[in-house]
Amino acid sequence: VEAALSRALVFVGFMGAGKTTSARAAAAALGTEAIDTDRLVEEEAGTPVAQLFAEHGEGEFRVREEKVVLEVLERAGAGQAVSLGGGAVTSPRVREALRAHRVVWLEADAETLWRRAHGPERPLTADRERFELLLAERAAVYEDAADVILPAAAGNAVTEALPWLAVLDRAPEGTRLLWAQAASGSYPVFVGAGLVAAGLRPLDGRGFLVTDTTVAGHHAAAFADAVHSMELEPGEEHKTVATAELLWRELARTEMTRTDHLVALGGGVVGDVAGFCAATYQRGVPVVQVPTTLVAQVDSAFGGKTGVDIPEGKNYVGAYHQPAAVLVDPDLLGTLPPEEVAAGYAEVVKTALIAGGPLWERVRAGAPATDPDVISGCIRTKLAVVAEDERDAGRRQVLNLGHTVAHAIETATGYSRYRHGEAVALGLLAALRLSGDEALREEVAGLLGAAGLPARLDGVAPEAVVEATARDKKRRGSEPVPFVLVTAPGDVTFGNRVARDDVLAAVRELA
Ligand SMILES: NC(=O)c1ccc[n+]([C@@H]2O[C@H](COP(=O)([O-])OP(=O)(O)OC[C@H]3O[C@@H](n4cnc5c(N)ncnc54)[C@H](O)[C@@H]3O)[C@@H](O)[C@H]2O)c1
Repeated sequence: VEAALSRALVFVGFMGAGKTTSARAAAAALGTEAIDTDRLVEEEAGTPVAQLFAEHGEGEFRVREEKVVLEVLERAGAGQAVSLGGGAVTSPRVREALRAHRVVWLEADAETLWRRAHGPERPLTADRERFELLLAERAAVYEDAADVILPAAAGNAVTEALPWLAVLDRAPEGTRLLWAQAASGSYPVFVGAGLVAAGLRPLDGRGFLVTDTTVAGHHAAAFADAVHSMELEPGEEHKTVATAELLWRELARTEMTRTDHLVALGGGVVGDVAGFCAATYQRGVPVVQVPTTLVAQVDSAFGGKTGVDIPEGKNYVGAYHQPAAVLVDPDLLGTLPPEEVAAGYAEVVKTALIAGGPLWERVRAGAPATDPDVISGCIRTKLAVVAEDERDAGRRQVLNLGHTVAHAIETATGYSRYRHGEAVALGLLAALRLSGDEALREEVAGLLGAAGLPARLDGVAPEAVVEATARDKKRRGSEPVPFVLVTAPGDVTFGNRVARDDVLAAVRELA
């Protein structure tokens, strides 16, 4: 923990995010005192914040707040934990002063914050609509200022994340630490351009590299310190038990032990196979995921689903095994062929539809697929869903948006005609047709089309696709497979029953 002492930790976030409690928890772990700027403003004024607001107005409060906050930030030294009032970051001078410190944003959704914050002692919580508008505005400012983004809902994320600040100190400037929480374990996610070239190593001990021959040609040199490297043949057709067996045996031959770790450098195929080997070799060893495709950076490297295909079905054999850490370096995407970037963009659009809010706004405004803020937004969306439901018992099913028809297309075309992301693009259009929002379907079709993704299904009969949905892994017993539908961006439901004829019509429309 002492490594976190290089700078002060400053907690920012909306009202109800738990800044005071988090600063106290961090201070306790660091053996220092927490400083709460709202309390200091109150002490100086001799009245509670609510009364200051009521009697003198917000403007007067902000002036007093800025003065106090600037004084605190000027003095705050290494290892101190400071919590700021929710609106303090609206001052440009405060934002400037924050640059000298480690800024930790406690992120939460509007629902959670409203539940926690709403009350007479909070002057800005009189009206829900205003509350949400203010949140949307502020979230952009918090995000911009943040070095560390923690889910506010996760109780002990603060103390668990503290030791990882030492790794963040070794990362290139501008790298962010995100926090992944799941029932079976939590782990850090580092997002930053150049962190692979800089040789960032989140874990101590010996690393065993797994990659594929294509990725190795571009990026394996950065992992020359690995004690052993294994290169798979690239492609979905190698995501098999046979490949896993090759890896298990090579790990045994090269004497990998449980104090060592795997490093999975590659796209979703490498990540899934290496993750599966990590889950099973000697009943489980740590794996660091280093995703090199957009699909992997926004989706497959997180959440702990690992596995391989069998001829009877995709991802039919696998295990849940959360990574020990994930390194996301957008620079690695520089060598990715445009079709693979496009395939990843389909997952970006899917995730933005699930998230709604600022991520959806960014994507619909035409942000490039590989924009680091878009990538980070997608990661946080997926992590928030997995934090709620690691094993697909409920909410995690929303991540399957567009995937029921996509998997059926892949199965019916023998996994060779479309990339996974291309099938997802078609699947999204079908899901939006079934959701009944014509304008949204049009808008999404426009985004996918502009990215060069296919809008037409060919080479397979729609009936065959609908038949294939009947074998979907997500179905339960003899029930038909449920669909994920979009009411509006940010409002996605799962477990919907859809009539076979409607599915057929939605797929026919694509053909
Ligand atoms: N575990 C999960 O939660 C999850 C989620 C989504 C998808 N997936 C799985 O992910 C797989 C698809 O992943 P993918 O789209 O990353 O495919 P992929 O791993 O096959 O990579 C696509 C191609 O890009 C090449 N490549 C990778 N990185 C590169 C780089 N930086 N420069 C140049 N070439 C590069 C690869 O060699 C490969 O040929 C599927 O098997 C899917 O089932 C898993």
